[in-house]
Amino acid sequence: MRFFPFTAIVEQGRLKQALLLNAVNPAVGGVLVVGPAGTGKSTAVRGLAELLPEIDVVADCPFSCSPSDPCPVCSAREGELPVARRRRRIVDLPLNATEDRVAGTVDIARALREGERALEPGLLAEANRGILYVDEINLLDDHLTDILLDAAALGVNVVEREGISVSHPARFLLVGTMNEEEGELRPQIADRIGLRVEVDAVVEPEARGEIVRRREAFTVDGEGFAASWADGQAELADEVAAAERLLASVTVPALRHRIEDLDQLVPLLLGRLAPRRPVRCTPDAMRALLGYVWPGNVAQLQMVLREALARRPAGDLRSEDLPADCFTSCQRVLMPMEALERDAIIAALHRAGGNRLKAAADLGIARSSLYRKIHSYGIGELHLPPPEV
Ligand SMILES: Nc1ncnc2c1ncn2[C@@H]1O[C@H](COP(=O)(O)OP(=O)(O)O)[C@@H](O)[C@H]1O
Ligand SMILES: [Mg+2]
Ligand SMILES: [Zn+2]
Repeated sequence: MRFFPFTAIVEQGRLKQALLLNAVNPAVGGVLVVGPAGTGKSTAVRGLAELLPEIDVVADCPFSCSPSDPCPVCSAREGELPVARRRRRIVDLPLNATEDRVAGTVDIARALREGERALEPGLLAEANRGILYVDEINLLDDHLTDILLDAAALGVNVVEREGISVSHPARFLLVGTMNEEEGELRPQIADRIGLRVEVDAVVEPEARGEIVRRREAFTVDGEGFAASWADGQAELADEVAAAERLLASVTVPALRHRIEDLDQLVPLLLGRLAPRRPVRCTPDAMRALLGYVWPGNVAQLQMVLREALARRPAGDLRSEDLPADCFTSCQRVLMPMEALERDAIIAALHRAGGNRLKAAADLGIARSSLYRKIHSYGIGELHLPPPEV
């Protein structure tokens, strides 16, 4: 089946941008697209498939695991693993799917003999390292939602039948579309998705006319229509792939190296965290924030502000509303050499996707000394990258 070309979608720039950002960098964490019916939401998501960057996979692995980091089943195989290169996938999760279809099933007798290989893979297996798309995600039943959230939280899908449990990697980006008029979304799902975009219907008559013309052309001759957009599609796919390669060289300086940004960051974050409440930091709270070293960067700043907002439900935030951390443990001023070492460790952890063993090898130090340094520099969860997709 052919999908409507992504580049032929009229307007809806923010929707397209949100999807492309995820294609380039899965760490963005997925997209929730909210808007009325018929605004091109599903069309855009399905169209993204043609533009996703390519990955190396073990050719016949049901989980599309990476040859350089094979899944347990592939690790146990003998001989060389067959490698293939293909686009990341978009897997559709239909609302009426059964639990078995989503999570997979276990052949009990085989499981007793062969362990993980007894798994009959489901959609979560197919979605590993790709995108899982749930259209009308607000209408997904609670049971499937729980399966989805468990897998999303762990990066692993665990299938349990009659006391036997098998698991497989299930790291996927969640993309959902919904129309708010049809029902609310459970907040647990919204929390799991990195970006939310609101789309509105295109109203401008000329643009509407163009939508109808393109739709008509696509229906009459899908192949011909796709061919006429092929150049633009290929160009955009190349751009996505190039952006993905460039991403590795993008660095954001540590917050403490641009502490003056707090003047703008704090109001921005407060506006986001408490949209209905005009709130600022008093000068003494601001001074405390400026004096802190922010080992956890903006994510930590956001947590600190969220905590302070909860402590003071009305009025401006004062220094006593800030968590004690801001004044104690991490306030320890690091010597310049220590600071360099600390940054190098955080960078290595990022490169290793949070894997400490790999990070230690990368830094050329023993794992035990890495652990010690992580502890003494107060490097915590906050510094670890989100799971690799
Ligand atoms: N901006 C747009 N550009 C091109 N086609 C559009 C656009 N908006 C809607 N359409 C067309 O309208 C129809 C419904 O779009 P769809 O993606 O299913 O909407 P939604 O998922 O938002 O309900 C599709 O045939 C699609 O091609
Ligand atoms: Mg739709
Ligand atoms: Zn595998």
